[in-house]
Parts: sequence; C-alpha cells; structure tokens
Amino acid sequence: MSIPFITAEEAASYIKNGDNVAFSGFTASGTPKVVTVALAERAKKLHAEGKPFKINIFSGASTNDHVDGELSRADAINARTPYQSHGDMRKSINGGGIHYFDQHLSHLAQDMRYGFYGDIDVAVIEVTEMSPNGEVVLGAGLGMTPTIANMAKKVIIEYSSYYKNSFRGFHDNYVPLDPPHRREIPIYKPTDRIGSPVLKIDPKKIVGIVPSNASESIKPFTAPDEISHKIGENICNFLASQLREGRVPKEFLPIQSGVGNVANAVLYGLGENPEIPHFQMYTEVIQDAVMDLMQEGKCTFASTCALTFSDDAMLRFMENIDFFRGKVLMRPGEISNSPEVVRRLGLIAMNTALEADIFGNVNSTHVLGTKMMNGIGGSGDFCRNAYLSIFSCPSIQKGGKISTIVPMVSHVDHSEHSVKIIATEQGIADLRGKDPRQRAETIIENCVHPMYKELMWDYLKLSKGGHTPHTLHSAFALHEAFIEKGDMLQADFSKFA
Ligand code: COA
Repeated sequence: MSIPFITAEEAASYIKNGDNVAFSGFTASGTPKVVTVALAERAKKLHAEGKPFKINIFSGASTNDHVDGELSRADAINARTPYQSHGDMRKSINGGGIHYFDQHLSHLAQDMRYGFYGDIDVAVIEVTEMSPNGEVVLGAGLGMTPTIANMAKKVIIEYSSYYKNSFRGFHDNYVPLDPPHRREIPIYKPTDRIGSPVLKIDPKKIVGIVPSNASESIKPFTAPDEISHKIGENICNFLASQLREGRVPKEFLPIQSGVGNVANAVLYGLGENPEIPHFQMYTEVIQDAVMDLMQEGKCTFASTCALTFSDDAMLRFMENIDFFRGKVLMRPGEISNSPEVVRRLGLIAMNTALEADIFGNVNSTHVLGTKMMNGIGGSGDFCRNAYLSIFSCPSIQKGGKISTIVPMVSHVDHSEHSVKIIATEQGIADLRGKDPRQRAETIIENCVHPMYKELMWDYLKLSKGGHTPHTLHSAFALHEAFIEKGDMLQADFSKFA
C-alpha cells in the first residue's frame, strides 16, 4: 500500500473543530514541527471568518513553539494536558483561555486507553524512518506515541530528514496490558529492554506523510550559576555521606534528574565527586550534562523518555552515535516514569521546587498559589516512589523579595509524606524520621536564607501547640506581604499575635 506525501496544509485539513489531537514526542524532542504551524494558520483564517476552531491537545509532556506556541497564539486550543512550559500558553492558561488539567505524566497514556478523555481523532507523529507496511523508527522523544498510534482514528506522519544517522535501536516501544490483565513491567535493571525498537502503525489509518527537516530547537543550557553550583555541591556531598554511612548501597543507585540549571549542576557535581561511583540513570529526560558524563565514563547507561539535547549537543550525539548505541534507551513515558519500576529500582530522584514549607510539603507548579508555571510533569511519578526523593531550589528568589521556604506552601504537589530531603544553597535538610516540629527546625536551620531565618522562627513561636505547629491565620503572611507590599520580608505576624 502506498501512502501519499501531502502538504502541511492538506494534513491540517484533516483536523476538525473540537477534535482530540495527540502528538508524538516528549518535551520538544520528537514532537511534530510542521503540521501545527499550518493548523494555526487555518484556525486564524476560520476565526477571521467568524467560525469556531479549537482542539484538545494531548502530548507526552511539554512540546515546542510549533505546537504549544503557534496554537496558543492562534487561540486554537480548548483543553490541554498533561504538561506545558511555553510562555504564550502559560499566559492563556492563567487568563482562563485554555482549560489545562495538570497531571502525572505516567498516567496520561493509560487514562487515554481507559477512555477517560474520549477518542483520539487524529495523531500527528514524527518519525525518522518508515517502511511501506507502517513500521516506523521514532525520533528523539518517545512520549506516549505507541498508545496514540494505536488509538487514533487517523494518523498524520511527519517524516523528519533532519537526522543524518539512524535512531534505530534507541527505542523500546512497549504498552502494558490494562487492568484487570496487567502484569508486572519486567524491568529489573535500567538496561533491561522489554519492547520493540520499531513501532507498527496500521497503514490504513495513515492519511499522509508530511516531510520535515527541522531540528528540535532546544537552546543550550547556560553554565550553572554560583547558587546552582552550591546546591549541586550540597546534594553531592550529602549523597557521598549516605554512601559512607551505608544508607545508600555501595553499588550506588540509578539517578533520576529533572531539567534545568540545578539539575545540570548536580549531575556535573556527581561527575566531579571522586566518592560517587559510576552510575546509571533511569529518568525521563537527559540533557547535555548526561552526554558529557557518558563520554567521560561516569554515567554508564541512561534509560529515558527523550533526548533533550541542545541542537549543538544533538549534532555531537549524532557524530558519536555508535558510542551511545547500547548506552541510551528511550521508553514511553508510562514506563520511564512508572511508579512500579521507580520503586523497584530504588531511584535517587532529584527535582526542583518553586517553594517548600517548613514541614516538607512542596509546591512545584503554582506561583503564589494561583498562577500555573508549567505543571507537575514527572516529579510526582518519581518523588512518591523513589528510594530518596530530593527537592531543591535557591533559598530566595527575586533578589530576596521571595523566600522559597515558607510557613505553608500556597499549593501542594508533593506532600511531607513523600519528600525526604530539601536542599538549597544554604544546606540540606534530611527529613527522614523527624516529626513535624523537628522537620521545621531542621529546614529553618539548614535551608532558609539568613535574611528570613528570624521571621521563620517567629512563625514557629506563634504556634499554640498541636502535632504540626501551624498558626492558620498567619500561615500565608509571607505570600500576602509579597502580594501587597512586593516583599515577603515585610510579613508581620504581630497583627495576629
Ligand atoms: N514564588 C514566586 N516566583 C518564583 C518562586 C516562588 N516561590 N520560585 C521561583 N519563582 C520564579 C523565579 O523568580 C523565576 O521568575 P522569572 O522567570 O521571572 O525569572 C521563575 O519563577 C522560574 O524560576 P527558576 O528558579 O528559574 O525555575 P526553574 O527553571 O529551575 O524551574 C520549576 C523550576 C519548579 C518551575 C520546574 O522545575 C518545573 O516545572 N518543575 C515541575 C516539573 C518537574 O519537576 N518535572 C520533573 C522532571 S523533568
């Protein structure tokens, strides 16, 4: 059966107002880059004619400017899940223009199969190789592509010719059976392969192939700043101490690491620390730092959902692709982030917080409790099930007008029951085995910036007792001070005393 090449505009014409549309990829990696640009143009034209056009978007994680950016600016999105990180989309979500529901990345593919969100009308899937019988090799991100390829009524292929070397062998396509038939996911070590390097898509569903030659357009990360470097150093020293004390096995444990500067700094720190042995990663994204650590031999294997390399690093990866073959494996998000596997492997999970409270609850998503930043992403999948769940952030933001350690978080993503370690550039708070008051004392002593310490001790002193010594009418005094006076330091507990 021959599948026709079509233009992006023809492909976009298959997507109708109100459709559920799913995209391949995870972050920008492996996400379509052409069809949605034409779709945004079509939406704008229809809006100009007074006709409605909005779709519901499902993806592995965040996408790229071609998807979340173009479609937000064209006001072409009704609902969005599970994660985003685009400025224009964020503005629209917080302005009430997009119905965004934020959920654990490992949940979405199975929730779609369970029928929670209806059918998938169209899937747009980037591939890097394809045979006439519909067997494809995916690109730099796997996301939930095996599920959407199977469920979608129509499939549009974006055929990328950007990559000069083949990704064949870097994917592990696998879909678990659904309850009541599910068995264990048979991954017992990060290197275990359980699926297929190729994905089979029913050619009868493929309406056409659109050529593409775009890179992932991921910008290089800036070198870690002093604060990130110090947080990284604190975490590495802590992990080394855990090894010495036998609280982490001497073989070490697989690492999960979030994205961003702190994550990069921690990884480089692990690389430099002679006490940390060679390690493997079981994570959802790998950044440039991991590639360097692999080439240096410190990281020996990475199981991931996507290669979120900057464009320059991706070219380097391609040039050295034979070195990485057998050392990097991309899995679907529901497997890379599987709570079952995370618990079994005993991951050291390191993610970033917007704010944490003195009792160990963490807010990863909502600025001042109301404005969505990005979403929970995979942080919940990993944190709740890890051997050690570490959250880090700088102790202050906005030049000290914000303390990231507060009496009570303004939104809870990760509760005190899941968070084991809090790290800032000031130090580490190990919350294991501590009651709420002891946790508060440790966090204030070790993690709060000196300019906020007195305020935080004052808050604890206000407590009239109880197991968790909160004083509810002043629990958000710092947030209120920032909203009203632009500075958390202006918080005044005396009016409640
Ligand atoms: N209150 C108000 N604003 C805050 C804040 C707080 N407590 N903490 C940070 N900010 C502001 C910063 O000042 C900065 O503002 P700017 O953009 O105007 O400069 C912005 O929020 C981003 O802060 P930054 O420190 O640069 O954050 P980051 O890039 O390290 O990202 C998260 C932090 C939490 C947003 C990000 O890690 C995330 O989305 N996490 C959830 C998903 C996840 O953990 N996935 C896991 C695996 S990848």
